[in-house]
Amino acid sequence: MKRIFSPLRLRSWVTAGCSSILASSLLFSAAPASYGQMSGSSYANSATNSAAQQRLLNWWKNAVVYEIYPRSFQDTNGDGIGDLNGITEHLDYLKQLGIDAIWISPMYPSPQVDFGYDISDYEAIDPQYGTMADFDRLIAEANKRHIRIMLDMVMNHSSDKHPWFLESRSSRNNPKRDWYVWKDGKGETATSQGQPPNNWQSAFGHSAWQWDPKTRQYYYHKFYIQQPDFNWNNPEVQQAFDKILNFWMNKGVAGFRFDAITTLFEDPSMTDEKVVLGKDGKPKINAFGDEVVDGKKTDNLPKNHVEIAHIRSVMDTAPDNSFPGKRVMIGETYVPTINDLLKMYGTTQKPEFELPMDTQIGFINKLNVAAFRSKINDAETRLDGNVPLIVFENHDNPRIDARYGDGVHDTDITRVISTILFATRGASLFYYGSEIGMKTTPPTRKEDVRDPVGITGWPKEKGRDGERTPMQWDDSKYAGFSTVKPWLPIPPNKATINVKMEQAEPNSILAWYESLIRLKKTNPALRSGSNVMLDTANTKVLSWLRKGPNGNNVIVATNFTAEPQTVNLSAVSAGVMGTHLTTLLKTPGASDPASITAVALPAFGVYIGTVKE
Ligand code: NOJ
Repeated sequence: MKRIFSPLRLRSWVTAGCSSILASSLLFSAAPASYGQMSGSSYANSATNSAAQQRLLNWWKNAVVYEIYPRSFQDTNGDGIGDLNGITEHLDYLKQLGIDAIWISPMYPSPQVDFGYDISDYEAIDPQYGTMADFDRLIAEANKRHIRIMLDMVMNHSSDKHPWFLESRSSRNNPKRDWYVWKDGKGETATSQGQPPNNWQSAFGHSAWQWDPKTRQYYYHKFYIQQPDFNWNNPEVQQAFDKILNFWMNKGVAGFRFDAITTLFEDPSMTDEKVVLGKDGKPKINAFGDEVVDGKKTDNLPKNHVEIAHIRSVMDTAPDNSFPGKRVMIGETYVPTINDLLKMYGTTQKPEFELPMDTQIGFINKLNVAAFRSKINDAETRLDGNVPLIVFENHDNPRIDARYGDGVHDTDITRVISTILFATRGASLFYYGSEIGMKTTPPTRKEDVRDPVGITGWPKEKGRDGERTPMQWDDSKYAGFSTVKPWLPIPPNKATINVKMEQAEPNSILAWYESLIRLKKTNPALRSGSNVMLDTANTKVLSWLRKGPNGNNVIVATNFTAEPQTVNLSAVSAGVMGTHLTTLLKTPGASDPASITAVALPAFGVYIGTVKE
C-alpha cells in the first residue's frame, strides 16, 4: 500500500494532532559590474529605478528555490553524512540547473534526534556538517554564482540539550523557566505525577506533555520529547530570536524558511482539544494508535500572526549585507484553507511572509484535473495578487512517485507535475533529487528506521527516511554521494536514476527540469503573466494560459491520463485571438499542433507553446 504522508497527515500533526548558462546570464544581465561589492540596500538606494534593477530586488517573485537536506546531498569527508562542503562542491551543477536560491535544512549543532530540527546552538555549525569557515565559503561561492542561501529557522522548539532548556528544567525559579511551556499535571500527589495537563498530542505520536521528575511539572512538546516548545508569550524569547536572525543575516543569508511556524502559540486556556469522531461515531485513531484531536488549541492561532509580522519587521530592517535584493521569508504553512493562506501574507501595514508555501496545490495527492484547476485558480484569484509558492516535495513527504505515480508512467507524470510547479504563476520550490526523478525508498525493516516518526509509528507509519535517501550522482556503489556506507541506504534504482546519466540524455527528467526553469526565467509570459484556466470542463487535460506583457501569451496543456488526448485550447474568451501555436517545449513523442483548436497530447504528455493575441 502506498504510504501517504500528506499535508493532511502533516496537518493532522498540527491540527488534529537553450542552456541554463544562457538563462542565468539573461536573468542577471541587469546586475551592475560591481555586483559582488554592492550591498542590498545601497544597491536599492543608489540604483535608478529601472525595470531590470527592480527585477533584481524582487528576485523572489519568480524565484526557483532548491531545498537541500544537507545530510543527504554530498559527503566530502568520508563519514557517510553529507556536509556543507558537499553543497559548495555542486554549486556549478545547481547554477546549470538555473536555481535562484538554496534553502538548507538545519545544519546547526544538534543531538540529531530529529536530524537537525532539534537545535542545541542557533549560532554555530554542527561539526558533522563542517565549520563556520565552510559556511562562509559556501555563501561566498554561492553569491559569486548569483545563488542565494536561505536557512531553516526553527523557532517553535529547541533541543532539550540546548543550554536554555537545561537551565529551564534545572529549577522552577530559574530565570529561563518561563522560556518554555511548563504546567502542573492533573491530580498530582507527593508520590505520583498524576496525568498530563490536557489531551494535547505530539505530532510525532502520543501525549505532547513530558513529566520532569526533578521539578515535578510537565513540559509541552509539539514534536518529539527532545523538542520542548518555547513559550512565545515571554518577550525574552522574541529578543533571543531577533538576535539569531540578525546573526545569520549579517553573514549574508538571503532569508529563512520558518519551521512549524503555525504552532508557536498555544491557547492560554490549556483545555482539552476535541476528539475527532469517525463515520461510525467512534474516536478516530491515527497511525500512532492515539485518538485524533482537532488541534484547535495548538495550531494556527491568531497570535502567530503578531509574531510573524514582528519577524518580518526584523528582516526588513536588518543591517546591510553584501547581497542585492530583498531578504525573504518562506513559511512552512500547512494551513487548511486558501483564506488561512491569504492571512499568512499579512496586510500592507503589517506584512508577514513573502512566500508562505501553498500546500493547497502540491498536496492534492491525486491526479484530479478539477481539483488542480480549482486550487491553481484559487492561487490566482484569492491571494490578493500575492505570489504563491508552489511546492510538491520536501523532506517530510513521500516523493512524487509515491503520491502521484502509477508505477508505469512515473517519468511522464513527473513531467506533468513539474510543469505545474514551474509554469503556473508564482515562485517554485523543489527538493534535491526531484530534478532527476528520485523515488521514495522507505525502509523495509523496523531496525533500519532512522526517523523518530517511523520508530514510533512502525509499521503503519514508516517515517520519512524514504524521501531522505542520498542524492544519486552516478551509478557507483554509493551513488557518488560518499566513499563509505551512507547514513541511509542508496536506492537500487541509482543505476537508472542518476545525475551523470541524465546529463548525457536529452530526454531525461533533468533536461526537462532545466528547460522548464529556463522558460520560467526567460519567457515574459511565464515569468510574470497572469494565469487563466482554459477548457474548464475538461476532466482529462489541465490547461492554462499565461497572459504576459505586450501580447506575449503562452499556452500550457498537461494530460492527466494514460491515453492520448486532443484538446481545443482556444483562448478567445481570455482575449487571445491567435490560432497558431509556436512550440516552446513538449514531451517526447508530442507533435507540433496545426492549430490551437486541436492540440494532441500523448499519455501524460505536456505541451507548451506561444500564441499571438
Ligand atoms: C517540520 C519539519 O519540516 C520537520 O522535518 C520537523 O520534524 C518538524 N517541523 C519539527 O521541527
